[in-house]
Amino acid sequence: MPATVVVGTQWGDEGKGKLTDLLARDMDMVVRYQGGHNAGHRIVVDGEAFALQLVPSGVLYPHITPVIGNGVVVDPAVLLEELDKLTAKGVDVSRLLVSGNAHLIMPYHQELDRLTERFLGKNALGTTKRGIGPAYADKSSRVGLRVQDLLDPKIFREKLDVVLHEKNLILTKIYNRPALKASELAARYLDELAPRVAPMIADTVTVVHDALARGERLLLEGAQATFLDLDHGTYPFVTSSNPVAGGACTGSGLGPRDLTGIVGIAKAYVTRVGAGPFPTELDGEMAELLVERGHEFGTNTGRRRRVGWFDAVMTRQAARLNSLTEIALTKLDVLDTLDEIKVGVAYEAQGVRYEHPPYHQSVLHDVTPVYETLPGWKTDLTSCTSYDELPARAKDYVAYLQEITGVRISVVGVGPGREQFVRPS
Ligand code: GDP
Ligand code: IMO
Ligand code: MG
Repeated sequence: MPATVVVGTQWGDEGKGKLTDLLARDMDMVVRYQGGHNAGHRIVVDGEAFALQLVPSGVLYPHITPVIGNGVVVDPAVLLEELDKLTAKGVDVSRLLVSGNAHLIMPYHQELDRLTERFLGKNALGTTKRGIGPAYADKSSRVGLRVQDLLDPKIFREKLDVVLHEKNLILTKIYNRPALKASELAARYLDELAPRVAPMIADTVTVVHDALARGERLLLEGAQATFLDLDHGTYPFVTSSNPVAGGACTGSGLGPRDLTGIVGIAKAYVTRVGAGPFPTELDGEMAELLVERGHEFGTNTGRRRRVGWFDAVMTRQAARLNSLTEIALTKLDVLDTLDEIKVGVAYEAQGVRYEHPPYHQSVLHDVTPVYETLPGWKTDLTSCTSYDELPARAKDYVAYLQEITGVRISVVGVGPGREQFVRPS
């Protein structure tokens, strides 16, 4: 039975939340498989905006079981706050399940994220400062605390004592910060947070496989994106998990053969938050225009996003890294007022033409994009309800992107609202 992955093909904020919400109409379960509250997935329903961080975007539908998979890092205080906000907006969050194997973000992770960024100075990555990197580092170092440890106070305290001893040495001796008290952390996590989280904790591997066996349809919601992937992104300017479709297996417990569709989400242009290479980046008036028309400010952090032209080199690479079966193209309407639109079709560096990103980062930093220029359509697309209603030049742009990336475009976004999309026939 089908399990479909939604994966970002650029540097995040492509509209994964909106697409997950859209596709979830025909699904039974939505599973987050990596990342944490560094994600900000915005969905607009009847003019009301929801900015989801940890809770899977399918939560807005009563028929969906939302699942936080083992590959996610969970700050339980943030999770509960998000659930309270959703409840206050009338969303029923009682079906949410959280993997017992997911790792916990602890206060020292967040503090170390901030301190490391400050320590790096001008080489800072521009992380979201949510403790994501340090939490995944502890997972890899095998000193992480997991969600299931909340159910066993003795184990929780034992593990915390060991790990906090080392963290406090780092905090006090290297960063000259006060030590954290194990008793205070244990009281917060075990007495305040655990009682509320406990009922959600589940063996989510069994949950997803039982759902498949019952013939249910699963959607795996990626956070971040292909070029923020720890292995395949623009390292070190990446996040600390594997957003690529392969991560949907490790982060949920599904096997590779369970995946039946991989939808890559691509903006009709490109954005990036934080530091790192960005070959098609724009500045000046055109950048201002795209930031303003696209409201390109972080969903949760409020940071201004860097903007650039669509980059087919990245999309081709994303197609092979993720086995994309289709692309959902978002925010086409943001380009509505442009006279002409550029598309990066290849890179050039030192006389060499690249159809895929050069593996060597020093070359990538140096590439010059090769652009094709297409005419704009100068028409408001936001009220289009069928593909036929798009002006010919907008259709040409979509067809051109499809041709140069080699991936079918199955959905086109024409506005932030849940209903603002059209499907090419
Ligand atoms: P995500 O992190 O991939 O889920 O993306 P974000 O939610 O962080 O950022 C995407 C932004 O674009 C959000 O503000 C969405 O409401 C908005 N959005 C999504 N699709 C469209 C679209 O087709 N047109 C416009 N104008 N906005 C869109
Ligand atoms: P969604 O799911 C855009 C970026 C940060 C930084 C780098 C590392 O909304 O697309 P981290 O805090 O993860 O250690 O930061 O990754 N980043 C994102 N950029 N969208 C996101 O999530 C991001 N999550 C992390 O800006 O450059
Ligand atoms: Mg986002």
